[in-house]
Amino acid sequence: MGIIFDKGKNTFTLHTKSSTYQMQVDRFGFLLHLYYGRRTEGCMDYLLQYADRGFSGNPYDAGNDRAYSMDALPQELPCQGTGDFRNTAVVIRNADGSYGCDFRYQGHRIRKGKYALPGLPAVYAGEDEADTLEIDLLDETSRIEVTLFYGVLPEQNVITRSACIKNHGAGKCYLKKAQAACLDFVGGEYDLICFYGRHAMERNVQRTPVAHGTQVIGSRRGTSSHQYNPMFVLAGRGTTEDTGSCYAMSFVYSGSFKGEVEKDQFNQTRALLGLSDEMFSYPLEPGEVFFVPEVVCAYSGNGLSGLSQDLHACFRKHLCRGKYRDCLRPILLNSWEASYFDINGKNVYELARQAADLGIEMLVMDDGWFGKRDDDNSGLGDWYVNEKKLGEPLDALIRKINGLGLKFGIWFEPEGVNEDSDLFREHPDWALTIPGRNPVRGRNQLVLDFSRPEVVDHIFGKMCHILDACNIEYIKWDLNRSLSDLYSCNTKDQGRVAYDYVLGLYDFLERLMKRYPDILLEGCSGGGGRFDAGMLYYTPQIWCSDNTDAIDRVRIQYGTSFGYPVSAVGAHVSAAPNHQTGRVTPFHTRGVTAMAGTFGYELDLAALDEREKQKIREQIRDYKKYAHLVLDGLYYRLTDPCAEEAGAWEFVSEDGSEALVNVVMQEIHGNMTVSYIRLKGLLPGCSYKEQHSGKVYASDALMEAGVPVPSKMGEYRAYQMYFVKI
Ligand code: GLA
Repeated sequence: MGIIFDKGKNTFTLHTKSSTYQMQVDRFGFLLHLYYGRRTEGCMDYLLQYADRGFSGNPYDAGNDRAYSMDALPQELPCQGTGDFRNTAVVIRNADGSYGCDFRYQGHRIRKGKYALPGLPAVYAGEDEADTLEIDLLDETSRIEVTLFYGVLPEQNVITRSACIKNHGAGKCYLKKAQAACLDFVGGEYDLICFYGRHAMERNVQRTPVAHGTQVIGSRRGTSSHQYNPMFVLAGRGTTEDTGSCYAMSFVYSGSFKGEVEKDQFNQTRALLGLSDEMFSYPLEPGEVFFVPEVVCAYSGNGLSGLSQDLHACFRKHLCRGKYRDCLRPILLNSWEASYFDINGKNVYELARQAADLGIEMLVMDDGWFGKRDDDNSGLGDWYVNEKKLGEPLDALIRKINGLGLKFGIWFEPEGVNEDSDLFREHPDWALTIPGRNPVRGRNQLVLDFSRPEVVDHIFGKMCHILDACNIEYIKWDLNRSLSDLYSCNTKDQGRVAYDYVLGLYDFLERLMKRYPDILLEGCSGGGGRFDAGMLYYTPQIWCSDNTDAIDRVRIQYGTSFGYPVSAVGAHVSAAPNHQTGRVTPFHTRGVTAMAGTFGYELDLAALDEREKQKIREQIRDYKKYAHLVLDGLYYRLTDPCAEEAGAWEFVSEDGSEALVNVVMQEIHGNMTVSYIRLKGLLPGCSYKEQHSGKVYASDALMEAGVPVPSKMGEYRAYQMYFVKI
């Protein structure tokens, strides 16, 4: 059992394979945080220090004890109203209009297995793979109860946190802020590592010292966003890839969020992650319950690589679901960069015919096949096949493509609507707009109000109509703008719309998965605008970025790798010059970069020469050879591509017997210096043979001194080295 309750000391101790998390119910019934870090035994309440500190108030029941203050004590659920003036996890507007709240321990339950959250994505595990702790805290005055959920997955080294908030009071209250997890550190100096970006340049890595004040990341876009990923790392000052302590917090949610890291007046650090509190005001009538989406917490005492590997393993096996969780995804060719909106039955079939010849396994028809959709100004929302444009029924086209031995996939943007569409003309109130105001347009489109079940049902029905009629084996689920004008004519409480929208999205995706368990879903939001753990519960892969440039992708995929497994990263070989950057990179380099993902193609095959076509055949052969390492192996970042000339990463089999090293040279100079790439994760004291050169190396030398990267002339060269233990 990973959860121990010590009755004498009133402590809860949560153990994973190599971490321990401890909290204590103190003499006043407050739930204090004691410890999170390297696995250890014993009671850590000696860490709590008390002092009379000016302007740090004391709870009334502390009597004359001026040294007892929530302003200084580490807590599990800091809230407004107990004298804690730091950032809080919950803010509630009570039925009487006041904001006070004061949660005290009521009881707890420990059980086998992992809790689930109704209507929300969450890490799952078998009865023997996880334990759950539920702690009830009650505000006696308002009769609002918070149950904190802790899921412990010992083998995964992961602890999940969530909460449900119940109104047992007699009046309606409003939830103003709801964070699923708070990590309080009484000491230590930390860096915040977060992943910022923009469309087509997502998840850049930023590492900054945690300083006095609050550093906030978040999204108010209704989606998790390109701008900040809903996951961050707190790393000890000296922590590197291989050494030192670090903590991850990853939000299993796809909407607006807020992450706060604060260093307080006593040099203590508090990290919070949960829902965005802007425009959030969720009503709870008497008897109603609200579930706070989950946060996955992980700790590594061996640096950032170990932290990422734990998250990867957890997400791969305990978050992603469905048939494709464990099996090799088909190598696909997507029509987008081949022909954009200019698609028809003929050119799609032609693409498929050439793809079949090269060993590609699936043709994905991207945007442009439905309604009146010749550009991105019209048609969204009209989910019927434009047979006139295709020149034939979709079913006929798919049958022909299947006849070539290829699977068929298709693009949808179920949440989007153009004003120039039949759907909008019929149901203008179905789009998120504020009465009396002109809405903000994005890509000349609006967003459907998915907080309304009838809207979700309508689009679901239209989609099913197509999916039932044809042999579609893959769906790319896209959303191409941020949400604004959050107003729903379904409710008087507009502060609930953003959250209910995400519940509507999840409901849709859940129904889709259940009804079509064999369809592979790939998430997308203008590339990686909704690349989060919440989406991975429904879509085991997500289009990583609209930027397919191999060099930019080295960096985007580097940043993505901190929090997400390679099996989740949609990556394709595209044309040169690249359509987003104009950069020309060798075909091989584009293949190596795309092999750090689900692997596929996104280009016009007719524009390729025979040599390039042959290259595709070889790449597919290689990818299949390496796929078990890429998708299931341990992932190591070997360099920092933002700081070094070489971008390098490695996949190592669980047993350490095989390793695939990938290097992309991002720069070339005269009289080039040599980059030595040091391998990781090999078995010490062994020999490995590099399969292309036939050279044999000692594993310790490979890890200590590395391998030199050949300094061949030419820009953006890439190298793959495949080592097998002999
Ligand atoms: C988004 C996606 C692209 C493509 C287009 C189609 O930008 O990220 O891959 O599907 O939409 O409009």
